[in-house]
Amino acid sequence: MIFWYNFLSLLIPLTTSEETFEFFKSRCDSKCTLQPYHIDSESISLFPIDCSSVCAYILIDQNSDLTENQLKNYFRNMRTLYGSVKIKDTNFPSLNFLSRLETIECVPVQLIGIINNPNLANATFPKLKKIQSDNKFLMIFQGNHPVLLKDPNFCKSIKKQLNSTEWHAPSVDGKSCEEIEDAQSSNNQIGVLLVVMITMILLVF
Ligand SMILES: *[C@@H]1O[C@H](CO)[C@@H](O)[C@H](O)[C@H]1NC(C)=O
Ligand SMILES: *[C@@H]1O[C@H](CO)[C@@H](O)[C@H](O)[C@H]1NC(C)=O
Repeated sequence: MIFWYNFLSLLIPLTTSEETFEFFKSRCDSKCTLQPYHIDSESISLFPIDCSSVCAYILIDQNSDLTENQLKNYFRNMRTLYGSVKIKDTNFPSLNFLSRLETIECVPVQLIGIINNPNLANATFPKLKKIQSDNKFLMIFQGNHPVLLKDPNFCKSIKKQLNSTEWHAPSVDGKSCEEIEDAQSSNNQIGVLLVVMITMILLVF
């Protein structure tokens, strides 16, 4: 009981409602729960490395002094996460340390936030099949490498693998997959128009 209140009270920006409490209590084994929120070389030593279902709110940021390979090693057995993942202000080019993750579930909090990682050109989650929460901002990519916004297939493939029907899950720089696709096709149309115009001008003169 005290354990769960301690765990939840650490999550300052997140609610510690009765609902949250029940959610974790019914799913989380205390030996598969990571208490610290911020991941670094010190707190990671508490990570329940042998558990396939882990309860944790994970924050990895510019002060997380761990390499991708170190993280991958700690997260290698984690298939289900009850909680959330936030990756913010890092230089990681991919999220391969989360590539085994299949399910993320939580009560109303944003589940996945991938924010301001300028080198992150590959933000795929190859095994992720299910994300579930009452929060409508389930999966947010914001301010990462610009290719994520350029290629609508990134957004669409995540949406497809999650079988998501929500327009805003996932979202990339505030845009839904449909909006990214529309922007792409109108760019293409402008491109085609330019080529046609230039060809005509060249033919005329
Ligand atoms: C992108 O990252 C995933 C792991 O997160 C990896 O499986 C995949 O091969 C990478 N794709 C490319 C094109 O590098
Ligand atoms: C995908 O979602 C639709 C509608 O929400 C549902 O009918 C279908 O069974 C789902 N498919 C899978 C593979 O979960």
